[in-house]
Amino acid sequence: MSEFKKIGVLTSGGDSPGMNAAVRAVVRSAIERGVEVYGIYKGYRGLIDNEMKKFSYRDVSGCLEKGGTILYSDRCHRFRSLEGQQQAARTCRENGIDGIVVIGGDGTFRGGVDLTAQGIPTIGIPGTIDNDITSTDYTIGFDTAVNTSISMVDRLRDTCESHARANVVEVMGRDAGDIAIEVGISCGAIAIAIKEIAFDEEAFLKKISDGVKSGKRHFIVIVSEGLGDYSEKLAKLIPEATGVETRFARLAHVVRGGAPTLRDRMLATRMGDRAVQCLLQGEANLVMCERNGEITPMDITYALKLDRMYKGKLEEGELRGYSLADISEMRHMCNEKREAMRYMYDLADRLSM
Ligand code: F6P
Repeated sequence: MSEFKKIGVLTSGGDSPGMNAAVRAVVRSAIERGVEVYGIYKGYRGLIDNEMKKFSYRDVSGCLEKGGTILYSDRCHRFRSLEGQQQAARTCRENGIDGIVVIGGDGTFRGGVDLTAQGIPTIGIPGTIDNDITSTDYTIGFDTAVNTSISMVDRLRDTCESHARANVVEVMGRDAGDIAIEVGISCGAIAIAIKEIAFDEEAFLKKISDGVKSGKRHFIVIVSEGLGDYSEKLAKLIPEATGVETRFARLAHVVRGGAPTLRDRMLATRMGDRAVQCLLQGEANLVMCERNGEITPMDITYALKLDRMYKGKLEEGELRGYSLADISEMRHMCNEKREAMRYMYDLADRLSM
C-alpha cells in the first residue's frame, strides 16, 4: 500500500485532444488505489494561486470524449521563477498533496523537474498535438490533430480538382514537422515543406509544371508552421512560376479541438494509469513515453536533454554527468527519429506526381 494519501493533476501549455482522457485515467486510477485526487486548475498558475478541487469518480464522467481540458490550461510565467516554484510547493504541502501528475509538452516537463526539486514528486504525461517530444513515439493529441487536418485537406482537394488549382495549406507544429509529414503523405500532397529538411523549390515548381502537362488538376502543398511565413510566400510563387492559380489556407487552432481519436484515447488512458502507478510506487521525475507500442517511463531530465539534442539546442557542458553509454543511446534515438522522418519525406516525394 502506498504512503501517498493525496495527489494532484494539472494540464499545462497548449491543450490537446485526449488530455481529458488522461485526467480521467489519473483520477480514477488513484481513487481506485485508495488515494484522493485534486484537480488543479489553469496549470501551474493554479498551484501558485491554490485553485483546486477534490475530484470524485463522477467529476470526470463524460469528459473522455471531449476536446480541450476540463482543468483549463495556462503558460504560467510566474512559475518560471524560484519564488513561484516555492509557492507552488507550499500550496501542495498546505493541501497535503504528496505528488503531482502534469500533462503537457516540454515546458510542462521543465516545470515538473522544478517541482520535484522543491520536494514534490512529479510525473509527466506528454500531451501536445505537435508530437515534438523526442523520447516518445507519440504524444496525446497528435493523432486527432492529424486526422482533423486530413479531413480538411481532403475537402480542399475536392475544390482544387474542380478548378485546376493549387492550395498551400499551413498546418500547426511550432518546432516539429511531424503533423505536416503525416498529413502530406495521407493526403497525397505534391510537396511537403518542414523545418527539419531543406526544401528544393526548383524541383517543386518543376513537379507542378510537369503535373499540369500530364493532366493533373489538384496540387496540395503542406507547409509546417515552423517555417514562418514561407507558406504564404509559396502561395504567391506558384502562380508566378507555373501559372497555376493558387489559394492559401492556415488550419491553425481549429485542429487543436474536437473529440480525440481512438488512438489518443487509448494512449491517454494507458499513460494516465501508468503515471499513477509510478507515482504511488515512490517514483518521481519521470515522463511516460510510448516506445514501440509499450508505455515506457523515462527520467524527465534525460528526456529533456534528448529533446534538446534532437532539436540542436544543447549547449556546451549540458551533458556533463551522463555516461558515454547514455549519450550514445541519446544519439541513437535522435538518429532513429531523423531517419524515420527522412524516410517518410522521401516516400511522400516519390509517390506524389
Ligand atoms: O504546441 C502546440 C501548438 O499548437 C503549436 O503547434 C503552436 O505553434 C502553438 O501551440 C500555438 O500556441 P498558442 O495556443 O499559444 O497560440
